[in-house]
Amino acid sequence: MEAVYGIPSHYHNIFLKPMKHRSEVDIFNDQWHCYRWMVDNNIMGHQQLMQLAAGKLRDYFTNKKVRLLDLGCGDASVTAEMTRELPLSSYTAVDLVDSVLKMAEENMTRPGVKTLFKQSNIFAPLPVEGYYNLMFSSYAIHHGSLEEKQALFSEMRTKAEPGCLFLMIDAILPKDLNREQYLKSVNRYFKSLPDLNKEWLNFVLDHVNQFDFPESIEQFEHIGKQSQWHLMEHHLLEGLPDYPAGLLVFQAQ
Ligand SMILES: C[S@@+](CC[C@H](N)C(=O)[O-])C[C@H]1O[C@@H](n2cnc3c(N)ncnc32)[C@H](O)[C@@H]1O
Repeated sequence: MEAVYGIPSHYHNIFLKPMKHRSEVDIFNDQWHCYRWMVDNNIMGHQQLMQLAAGKLRDYFTNKKVRLLDLGCGDASVTAEMTRELPLSSYTAVDLVDSVLKMAEENMTRPGVKTLFKQSNIFAPLPVEGYYNLMFSSYAIHHGSLEEKQALFSEMRTKAEPGCLFLMIDAILPKDLNREQYLKSVNRYFKSLPDLNKEWLNFVLDHVNQFDFPESIEQFEHIGKQSQWHLMEHHLLEGLPDYPAGLLVFQAQ
């Protein structure tokens, strides 16, 4: 399959090509509505993991100005909620898709906060300057291969000041499962949701089966170590046994 920066061509078609044809815009909008529905209905555990992350950040950044880099920001609605009580001084966001960056801009524009929105692939060199003391990524990193994740962690480390925290919310491969078993479990989970209509279910399953490449906690710990990110703590999502996801907290050494 043809790939752009390692992204399969199907994904490239929908998310990277300038969207000139009405049908492509429609497809993207519909898929985005589906994703929004899943966030609003807490289908992927965003609420629990984001609340947990918000608590960690409040404790860590008391009286410290926060310079945040958000990778695969989407519309940044999750980031906006998570950082509501944080003393943000700057917010930089990277995503493949222009239209979601515009929504992120609406959601993250706050008085006194310097913002920058960059359309780019997070698995390519990051188009940002300076150093950050907080990095965040939610449900984006699982799109990369193992090599792309390793390269990303290493690239992020070059933009992190010592002590920088990196909070990652994402799908996690359970210790005793391989990817095929993970996909079976996640497919079963989405099929069990009574309110997910057939069209959206097909979109979700298609997306998961093509783009979910989760790693185990142990693998993430190893990836972190390779580029001097120490895994301080991790929390697995409770209550959704067929949907394995978690919050990982790394610190730049
Ligand atoms: C599932 S959404 C998550 C959005 C947001 N972080 C959240 O938790 O609601 C994944 C986002 O990552 C972006 N994304 C996926 N692969 C990417 C890549 N290689 N580079 C940049 N952004 C990417 C998508 O465009 C999308 O906005």
